[in-house]
Amino acid sequence: MGKTSDRTDNISEIQGRYLMQSWSTQGQYAPIPVERTEGCWIHTTDGRKIFDLRSAHECINLGFNHPKVLQAMRDQLEKVIYVTDDFATEPTAQLVRTLADITPGGPGKRTWLAQSGAGAVEAAIKGARFYKYNQVVKNRKINSSEPHLYPYPYKIISRYRSYHGATTGAMSVSGDPRRWLQEPFVAPGVVFAPDAYCYRCPFGHTYPSCDIDCAGYIDQMIALEGGSEKVAAVIIEPVVGSNGVIPPPPEYLPRLREICDKWDLLLIADETMTGLGRTGRMFASEHYGVVPDILILGKALGVYCPLTAVVFSQKVAQCFEDNLFGHGQSYSGHAFASAGALAGINVLLEEGLIDLARKNGEYLGSRLKMLAAEFEMVGDVRGLGLFWTIELVKDRKSRQPIRQVGEKYANTIVTNIAEYLLREKNIYIPRDKFGIWVVPPLIVTREEIDFLVDGIEDALKFVTAGQV
Ligand SMILES: Cc1ncc(COP(=O)(O)O)c(C=O)c1O
Repeated sequence: MGKTSDRTDNISEIQGRYLMQSWSTQGQYAPIPVERTEGCWIHTTDGRKIFDLRSAHECINLGFNHPKVLQAMRDQLEKVIYVTDDFATEPTAQLVRTLADITPGGPGKRTWLAQSGAGAVEAAIKGARFYKYNQVVKNRKINSSEPHLYPYPYKIISRYRSYHGATTGAMSVSGDPRRWLQEPFVAPGVVFAPDAYCYRCPFGHTYPSCDIDCAGYIDQMIALEGGSEKVAAVIIEPVVGSNGVIPPPPEYLPRLREICDKWDLLLIADETMTGLGRTGRMFASEHYGVVPDILILGKALGVYCPLTAVVFSQKVAQCFEDNLFGHGQSYSGHAFASAGALAGINVLLEEGLIDLARKNGEYLGSRLKMLAAEFEMVGDVRGLGLFWTIELVKDRKSRQPIRQVGEKYANTIVTNIAEYLLREKNIYIPRDKFGIWVVPPLIVTREEIDFLVDGIEDALKFVTAGQV
């Protein structure tokens, strides 16, 4: 034990000194001390009430401290918190059955449970590769069921504007420049495709006359990467999240589905950020009528606990009936976390929160779009449900971005806006995006939306006037 005399009771100082904050230099780390949370709000120890406009890393779709979820967690706490998956528990069993019921696609699914989005992504990639291995081995009648041989279809196609997590496998399929921090130690076998980003079309085309070349290009990539012999899966966020909140044009995902089917590849939809009502449907894939072969859920799934899921469609799950699913983690299938998740799904359904998110999202979107007319620095306003961004530009005509791709942690006008909103308006948004992140909990009210958009408008006026 160190000396106690120089020890402070100030939790901000303690945490600021001892916690390694994610994605940050540590010297200036000064977390805001929190007393309690409720609904969309964080109450600080010094009496401030801050609106969390990023829904706690997009995890708190139901708002903080939802009474029904807390009650389900309390009830479960006294019964079983965790046993291994050699045992069955009420919440884990009910959760995986519920996920099979509510996710797109027919019966026969199986779900593997993890604790982080990255952990789920790793399992999805391994699952896709195992599946393809077994498929090829079976076709060629190679006499082994252990998926440890190369070569087999192992390549994964991802896109540049994507983020799938910070562990090696998940980062390897992330086009996000945060991958550069890990290079050259990324997993091999990943190829990046251009994005379905109409505001900055990688082909310089204009929708809808473009014929969705961004999807067509992936078809060519698959051919050039070795087709069905070499490529296992395409992984996408149905609506890109951290890399700019980018809903694709309506035809894009159906086209990608067709391309995957043509080549007999798996389509992996990473709905870590978009799942569970965020976009105004239970799953973003549903906006586009697409059924993925593997669906990844995270963040809001666990409600207040780290719980994520990989839902394998029947086609994929079936392969593991007599082939090894060679993956696992100590805490997989945590009963306590599952109880919260199950209660959370019930709340979404019983309280009509997804419809509410859709309706309030339309209102939020229309108010945000009005800002585009008012401010030169607003390049694009886009989103779905309660998942919105205002992309800021240096110059509206040339669409020059406020930060270059590699400048993720550089100070920009977004940093100034985030600081202004927190300081003057008690609104918390991330400071490292390409614009203003507008991702409130699904329980946000019209009054709160007005408060938020008014605050953003003031922030834009403030920076426009150069008062920073
Ligand atoms: C789409 C997507 N996938 C995966 C992840 C990784 O999740 P986690 O941070 O829980 O590992 C994220 C995190 O932001 C994400 O947005």
